[in-house]
Amino acid sequence: MDHFDLRNGVLHAEDVSLEAIAEAVGTPVYVYSTATMTRHAHVFMEAVAPLGDVLVAFAVKANPNRAVLATLARQGLGADVVSSGEMARALAAGMRPQDIVFSGVGKTALEMADALDAGIGQFNVESEPEAEMLSAVATARGTTARIAFRINPDVDAGTHAKISTGKSENKFGIAYDRAMIAYARARELPGLDPAGVAVHIGSQLTSLAPLEAAFTKIGSLIADLRAAGHDIRVADLGGGLGIPYDPALPKPPTPDEYGAMIARVSRDWDTRFIFEPGRLIVGNAGVLLSRVIRVKQGSSESFVIVDAAMNDLMRPSLYDAWHDIRAIRPTGIRMQTNVVGPVCETGDTFATARDMDHVEAGDLVAFMSAGAYGATMASTYNSRALTPEVLVDGERFAVVRERQPIEALIAADQLPDWL
Ligand code: LLP
Repeated sequence: MDHFDLRNGVLHAEDVSLEAIAEAVGTPVYVYSTATMTRHAHVFMEAVAPLGDVLVAFAVKANPNRAVLATLARQGLGADVVSSGEMARALAAGMRPQDIVFSGVGKTALEMADALDAGIGQFNVESEPEAEMLSAVATARGTTARIAFRINPDVDAGTHAKISTGKSENKFGIAYDRAMIAYARARELPGLDPAGVAVHIGSQLTSLAPLEAAFTKIGSLIADLRAAGHDIRVADLGGGLGIPYDPALPKPPTPDEYGAMIARVSRDWDTRFIFEPGRLIVGNAGVLLSRVIRVKQGSSESFVIVDAAMNDLMRPSLYDAWHDIRAIRPTGIRMQTNVVGPVCETGDTFATARDMDHVEAGDLVAFMSAGAYGATMASTYNSRALTPEVLVDGERFAVVRERQPIEALIAADQLPDWL
């Protein structure tokens, strides 16, 4: 459920008309709903609360805007980060260091040192060489890093290939069959406390079956590790639960169904749990608001050309992702058309042969479910300035990232002294 609804015929974010935001800030612009985010955070927290001691660490990569992180920090969420930059943002937004998990397959020694100095709660370690580097960095600083090895369970997540992470051929984690050796080795290394097991098999999962298969393997591993004398106290089950993008498709499993499945699978684990949801918390809490520049009739096709482009919202171009496109002032008339941006690539296509609200030049449209992996994946391709972001809370709204001035883009380049 989200808080984007028609009121008096105009699409609103909570109590604010999207027309008013377009008027005040211009387009394209990302608009986030506080009530939707906090609701999703609560639904998720309640769904996993029966598991006992739980940390919900928001996957910052999904939406790193500091106002979004601060909103979630106030709801008691921690952060799953994959770079010093994400860690700094999470800390700046008020997340507690002990509620921060550092994931990622390529942590550098500098990032490890930064994270140890900040006092983060856990490192999810993805290889034996990484464990050795972390041991050296922690030892040099006279401290101990609490770690979980990320296990690659060789399970097909059944999602888009570019966002699947749990197959043996993917770069992520340590092979399940190698895990006992990796933990035995880590126990011998100074400066490491191998306290947990972690898994994350992919994103936008629309079935619980692959998650259950992966978690069942994790349960067996926890038992085997304990039998071998390891003091395993934490199970980090990652993120990945999908959200509804296309209302015509079956709804993905609910957080309640996800929580119930985990309760069943983990009955005898006796661990603390960490979860790393990203998309589930913010995906449906954001829209990309855009204006139709013109409608063009090609020789066989019609094109609605909008002022947002693939550089603002990469997902359709990169993953063939489907985002609902709604008129801000729908008339009830429908049309079938292609929706494209101004960038000079055929890949700059948001929708093909889409049945949607009828729109004309000058009308506003919203790309729905753009709160996760939207603004954060934007680029300045075609020298298009980064899109601003707005946060709505009830009747009020604020710009939480200004539109980048083109002058700032130009000024970032420097001329060598021979030019
Ligand atoms: N934990 C780890 C270790 C991850 O790699 C990810 C996402 C998450 C948690 C959060 O997953 P979520 O709950 O959001 O599914 N840009 C792509 C998605 C990439 C996901 C990368 N990892 C997209 O737009 O679909």
